[in-house]
Amino acid sequence: MRSSPAAIVAAFCMLGVAHAQDAIPESLTGARGDAARGRAIVANRQVGLCLLCHSGPFPEERFQGNLAPDLRGAGTRWSEGQLRLRIVDSSRINPATIMPAYHRSEGLARVAPAWRGKPVLSAQQIEDVVAFLMTLRD
Ligand code: HEC
Repeated sequence: MRSSPAAIVAAFCMLGVAHAQDAIPESLTGARGDAARGRAIVANRQVGLCLLCHSGPFPEERFQGNLAPDLRGAGTRWSEGQLRLRIVDSSRINPATIMPAYHRSEGLARVAPAWRGKPVLSAQQIEDVVAFLMTLRD
C-alpha cells in the first residue's frame, strides 16, 4: 500500500509532537529549584516516597527500593526538562508506569478525598527535586 504525501506529512508532525512531549523545558515556577531541599524531599518517607521504589546516593537511608532504576547518574542520562516531565507525570512517557504522577491532579483514579484536586508535590517542590536530580551526575 502506498502512503499519500499527506499521510507522510501527518506522521512527521506526530513525531514532532511526541518529541516535544518528552520534556517540560520551562520551570514550573519560573525559577530554579533548591537542590538541598530537593534531596530532603526525595529521601523523605512521607512526602516523596521515591525510595520506596528507587535507590540512590543516600548512605543514611538503610532501606531503599529496587523496583525502579537507581537515581545515580539521572542528571547525566536526562535533561532538566526530561526529568521535570518524569516527576510531574511519568505516565505521559509510559502509560503503564507504576511511578505516581507527582504534579497532576485531574484524571487520577482512587485519590483519597483529602488529596482530591491537590498534586502530591507543589510546583516549588517539583523544581527542588529536579534541581537535586540534576546534581546526580555519576
Ligand atoms: C511506586 C514506585 C515509584 C515511586 C514511588 C517513584 N518512582 Fe520514579 N520510577 C519508577 C519506575 C518503575 C521507573 C522506570 C520508568 C517507568 O517504568 O516508568 C521510574 C523512573 C524514574 C526516573 C527516570 C529513571 C532513569 O534514569 O531511567 C526518575 C528520574 C525518577 N523515576 C525519579 C523519581 C523521583 C524523584 C521520585 C519521588 C519524587 C520517584 N521517582 C518515585 C517507579 C517509582
